[in-house]
Amino acid sequence: MIPFFDVAVIGAGAAGMMAASIAGQRGLRVVLIDHAEKLAEKIRISGGGRCNFTNTGTSPENFLSKNPHFCRSALAGYTPQDFLQLVRDYRIGFHEKHKGQLFCDDSSESIIQMLRQECLKGQVSWRMPCSVQSIGRTEQGFVLRTSQGELNALQVVIATGGMAIPQLGSTDYALRVARHFGLKVIEPHPALVPLTFDGRDWKPFSALSGVALEVEVSTGQGKQRQAFLEDLLFTHRGLSGPGILQISSYWQPGESICVDLAPGQDIAQQLLDLKAGNRQQLVTVLSTLWPRRLVEQWLDTSELLPKGVGQQRLADLPDRVLRSVGQVINAWALKPSGTAGYKKAEVMSGGVDTRELNQKSMEARKVPGLFFIGEAVDVTGWLGGYNFQWAWASAAACARAL
Ligand code: FDA
Repeated sequence: MIPFFDVAVIGAGAAGMMAASIAGQRGLRVVLIDHAEKLAEKIRISGGGRCNFTNTGTSPENFLSKNPHFCRSALAGYTPQDFLQLVRDYRIGFHEKHKGQLFCDDSSESIIQMLRQECLKGQVSWRMPCSVQSIGRTEQGFVLRTSQGELNALQVVIATGGMAIPQLGSTDYALRVARHFGLKVIEPHPALVPLTFDGRDWKPFSALSGVALEVEVSTGQGKQRQAFLEDLLFTHRGLSGPGILQISSYWQPGESICVDLAPGQDIAQQLLDLKAGNRQQLVTVLSTLWPRRLVEQWLDTSELLPKGVGQQRLADLPDRVLRSVGQVINAWALKPSGTAGYKKAEVMSGGVDTRELNQKSMEARKVPGLFFIGEAVDVTGWLGGYNFQWAWASAAACARAL
């Protein structure tokens, strides 16, 4: 006898466990399938091991999608407070770190165990490690051929996430299933990812590896402009840190990014105000704002400033040069050559085209009974707990509609 389930959920990560547990607790017979040896590795490593499981300020504006309104309904139907209630019910300690970001006090493992427990309450059956070789349609639903044999399911939920960190078993499976069933896919890209620069151009800055400071980083012009006030980190190959990860999701290859190294300060004006009779070198004046190593390297490297400008006394520098220094500090334009790729990305942007899905249920319009949730869908959150909130919310919307 081929086992029969109401629902087969493929992918036992954040969205998959959430959807399976809610569906199971509604009385549906659910099987949860994952090809990994270890459960929910992405939750485990998330938030530096403490899982930034939601953001209390979540709103649709914190997400990127070709169809920005798509996420509204699901996000409204399952809020950060709903997830927080679950966390409280399990007495998991948490704290707010920064801008509404909630982290476990202890370890991400507690979130994994909570979701596993919720699945147990819903009497969810597990197939793990188990790979799915094919999904075919039947009169009644679907037949899945897996490494543990065949099974039938009335409905199938694809929750296999995106391609970030392939070393943890991430795949493009969701995109392949979508294409197989004739659904459009928005071209995927690594997102929340460090930006890299041409080796020769970056050489002078690689000495700054490890230096971090708060900046405003932006890309795009006019209404398309997107800016973040966050930390930037110099690395051997380019730039990283929260500000750069955020802007990477908006950056288009070939475009520049603009970094304001002194957000909220008009450096040209400050230098002009300090100039009269000031015998300090420019580098010394600027070192009151940033690490001296950064100032020295950065003044030496800027092609827009006269050579040796840092060693000149402020009083001797023409106003024109001080304005240029201010301009280069408040609007440092630089063109990344690429990103550090899926190996270093936190998420994949793009995914199953939301125009193919019902926004209330996540069901494919053309394929009744087939659902896509979580990162596999073209909804990508900012850094800061938004991606998990999308995973929980899209899973809840789907599970209530099954
Ligand atoms: P998820 O990746 O969680 O789960 C997919 C599951 O499908 C996996 O268990 C995988 O094994 C399985 N699978 C894949 N292909 C399969 C196949 N072919 N057959 C069977 N199973 C398959 N977000 C956030 O909000 N706060 C944070 O703190 C962090 N931190 C963070 C750190 C790092 C290093 C990374 C890489 C990512 C984050 N994220 C994050 C992002 C977050 O982890 C991610 O958005 C969610 O886990 C997505 O949930 P899903 O359930 O969609 O995919």
